[in-house]
Amino acid sequence: MGDESLADRLHRRIADNGPLRVSEWVEAALYDPDDGFYMTGGRAGRRGDFLTAPEVGPLFGVVMARAVDRWWAEVGRPEVFPVFEVGAGPGTLARSVLRAGCEAARSGALRWWATEISPGQRRLHPTHDLLRSVGSLSEAVTAQDSGGGGSRRGLVLANELLDNLPFDVVERTVDGWSMVVVVADPSGPGFATSLGPLRRDAIAELAGLAPDAEPGQRLPWQPRARGWLEAALAAVPEGRVVVIDYGATTSDLLARGDGWLRTHTGHRSRCRWIDEPGHLDITADVDLEQLQLYHRADVVVSQAEFLRSHGIDDLVAEGRRIWEERASVGDLVALEARSRVREAEALCDLAGMGSFVVAEWRT
Ligand SMILES: C[S@@+](CC[C@H](N)C(=O)[O-])C[C@H]1O[C@@H](n2cnc3c(N)ncnc32)[C@H](O)[C@@H]1O
Repeated sequence: MGDESLADRLHRRIADNGPLRVSEWVEAALYDPDDGFYMTGGRAGRRGDFLTAPEVGPLFGVVMARAVDRWWAEVGRPEVFPVFEVGAGPGTLARSVLRAGCEAARSGALRWWATEISPGQRRLHPTHDLLRSVGSLSEAVTAQDSGGGGSRRGLVLANELLDNLPFDVVERTVDGWSMVVVVADPSGPGFATSLGPLRRDAIAELAGLAPDAEPGQRLPWQPRARGWLEAALAAVPEGRVVVIDYGATTSDLLARGDGWLRTHTGHRSRCRWIDEPGHLDITADVDLEQLQLYHRADVVVSQAEFLRSHGIDDLVAEGRRIWEERASVGDLVALEARSRVREAEALCDLAGMGSFVVAEWRT
């Protein structure tokens, strides 16, 4: 702390306590209260470090507003319907949904809890009667419950959160699986990786998930994502949990080499995740099989299918009509209508965001 950089502090931790698990490294690099990437200004957005679906433009929120109404209807249109958006970033999705409007909002049932761990990003959240901004899901659930409107029939929603939860890395060895750990680089001032022991239960689970892994192959190991799912399911025991993220099966991840682990800063992808802790976003593809080991999702579809099933094509056609009528006016409504075409292309592009996974648990 103080003048000591995060890298210096991590060096000291390793010298004092031994190698760090990758999850400990990622936790510090992304969420250290003083120097973590997300705590010091890193964020989604055109002026941020990477683009997410809500940041492509308002269309994603317009479709999500329709989806919120469907989920609300499916659980019986309760008088109070909390939506716990976890990892809300600067609040762009909440802003678009509330601006688009939906039946749950008009009827007064909707309570939107934008939960975001970074205080700097929370300060960017919109001001709206139906929106509250807090740091964590448990805080939001407690506040919702103590406000008298129980949260049993609600929605937990997370767009591109799970890929950012601290994950470990495991490596197949000749006689089993080992934990990849971070050590001080013996040949320089930086950091390097080495192998350490892995718990037996994890080894057994990996043996089931990746029986054909070859020595030297690595996978993300994501108990934090599984723990998050447990908490999310418990938060809305008669509702819905919906996760949108880049994910793949264990065998697909194995085939990607180390390609499932990426870094971003200022829209540039960098390769060495152990360089410059605190200055890079570090993210891992979500292993959908690990995530569903104990709770199988009721629906898993691509983002493109999900958006189509909630009428994105109609919204684009409507946008075209509005543009034709108002092109000569050229006002915001006309421009927003025209931009729907390009937004939909980006959101449904199967070589990009369209291939993301939307997983839904019906609790
Ligand atoms: C990749 S960003 C996605 C932001 C936003 N959902 C979007 O789609 O643009 C992930 C966000 O999750 C936040 N985050 C990570 N762990 C969190 C947690 N346990 N609770 C709340 N927010 C968290 C990070 O600070 C970051 O802003």
